Amino acid sequence: MRLEGRRVVLGVTGSIAAYKACDVLRGLQKEGAQVRVVMTAAAQELVRPTVFRSLSGSPVLTGMFDDPQGEDIKHIALTEWAELILVAPATANLIGKVASGIADDLLSTVISAAGCPTLFAPGMNFRMWENPVVQGNVRKLKGLGYRFCGPVEGRLASGAVGVGRMADADEIVRAAVQALTGDDEGKGLRVLITAGPTREFIDPVRFISNPSSGRMGYAMAEAAAKTGAEVCLVSGPTELTPPAGVEMVRVCTAEEMRAAVTERVPQADVFVGVAAVADFAPAETAGAKIARADGDLTLALRPTADIIAEVGRAKGDRIVVGFAAEAGEGVERARRKLEAKSLDLVVLNDVTEPGSGFEVETNRVTLIRRDGSAEPLPLMLKTDLARHIWQEVLKLVGVTRSGGVA
Ligand SMILES: Cc1cc2nc3c(=O)[nH]c(=O)nc-3n(C[C@H](O)[C@H](O)[C@H](O)COP(=O)(O)O)c2cc1C
Repeated sequence: MRLEGRRVVLGVTGSIAAYKACDVLRGLQKEGAQVRVVMTAAAQELVRPTVFRSLSGSPVLTGMFDDPQGEDIKHIALTEWAELILVAPATANLIGKVASGIADDLLSTVISAAGCPTLFAPGMNFRMWENPVVQGNVRKLKGLGYRFCGPVEGRLASGAVGVGRMADADEIVRAAVQALTGDDEGKGLRVLITAGPTREFIDPVRFISNPSSGRMGYAMAEAAAKTGAEVCLVSGPTELTPPAGVEMVRVCTAEEMRAAVTERVPQADVFVGVAAVADFAPAETAGAKIARADGDLTLALRPTADIIAEVGRAKGDRIVVGFAAEAGEGVERARRKLEAKSLDLVVLNDVTEPGSGFEVETNRVTLIRRDGSAEPLPLMLKTDLARHIWQEVLKLVGVTRSGGVA
């Protein structure tokens, strides 16, 4: 019961995901929150207010000019009552109105008059979400301190798959807890993370790659986002669902990953290179599928760019963390890597150990720090390990921000 007695206004807008707000309401109540529901006119077209009234045990607030009934809370007093305004789902329309200072119905008026944090859980068609105007509104609101949870990638109401689906209720409740309990040590940090493998094409249908699942990088992104950091995840091809609240950039080759990182790293306070970037790529990619022939085929390979080294070379005040997958004893190699690439922390991963490395849920790593210390950690779930490493990164950020030596 992390929200015992905490007061939340749940705004429900006219997204097809409006019915899922019932689960959000239930989740908030399970955490002990008192919840008052405000619905827009469009939301009432999709779900009847009676549903929320029954679940919340209080009248649902809908109209700006309705007279409060009996003991009911007066409309504008909601802004003083609320400790958090959570809009789930949030339409493109509502986000646009708040970004433009428009207050033409009860919910937008309450948001514009509120002194408490506001958290949006957008839900919309992926083309709406990708719309540069919507993206601009979201950036503007984030810049002003409004919080976002999701949207996530998944199957949308239209049947299409893309980013736009409202985050799961559990995730939204977790973000609400974070907003209310101040578990947000990462807030204000911009974090760039790479994950997954890359593919280096021999011809249009064949490539060189590795078995990296992306799990460790995705877990790092999730751990950072859960502390309120603004996270961008540059991912090679994986089967994973992007973590809620994380900006995804999908790439395929090492060169694409390098371009995506080079473009975004100047804005990042922290860079974490988890991706298993191919070290070599075919010197040339054939334009057409290479036909089977008798005899051997010899491929000439060229080294790919060392992305972490490039980031390290231009690091400035940025914290740079590298994951190193080594086969066998690699502490000395990792120490040399840390020095040579100006890293702040190396997470050394012996991929030959059972339960470690690619394609498994667990990992056993050794943390190599700038002071030369090497701390072996026990075998952990990648999600737990990610939280542990992120706490280590936050300590490093604390050291550099307070002017110490990282
Ligand atoms: C069936 C239906 C589903 C809709 N789903 C969404 C949606 O998921 N996300 C969204 O931003 N707009 C959606 N819309 C459009 C909004 O309802 C519309 O922009 C409306 O003006 C939003 O009003 P509100 O923000 O005040 O709730 C949908 C409309 C209909 C008819």
